[in-house]
Amino acid sequence: MRIAMGSDHAGFELKKHLAQKLRSEGYDIIDVGTHSTESCDYPIFGEAAARKVATGEADRAIVICGTGQGIGISANKVAGVRCAIVSEAFSARLSRLHNNANALALGARVIGTDVAEDIVDTWLHTEFLGGRHARRVNEIMEIKPE
Ligand code: RB5
Repeated sequence: MRIAMGSDHAGFELKKHLAQKLRSEGYDIIDVGTHSTESCDYPIFGEAAARKVATGEADRAIVICGTGQGIGISANKVAGVRCAIVSEAFSARLSRLHNNANALALGARVIGTDVAEDIVDTWLHTEFLGGRHARRVNEIMEIKPE
């Protein structure tokens, strides 16, 4: 599986940690930056990671900022991307089962490394249920921006 990863400065260390772990597990990681803890703007990296999913260059995206909010909201502006902003594994699992989330946003200032690993592991190993949930996801995707 190809995973695009993006973060701002606040999410950089967690991105580095998770990218290393995921590479060791055999995932193909496309790191769109940022590449240091120097202050930067999260929308750039949320969009960049989400675009990799939208173009098909990546199967999923994981984006990280201080709270997960700014970078997750940014990722959700890209057509075709459904980014779940979560802080625990239950929501991560349901975001796959019911929402077919193809992007995940984490807050490095909100959760610890072990919780982040748990969330990512759960999210990557849970499949979409389809059925009535597919109808609802399709309804989401049909919502047109004004
Ligand atoms: C950066 O200070 C912080 O605002 C950012 O990482 C994120 O939490 C925004 O949503």
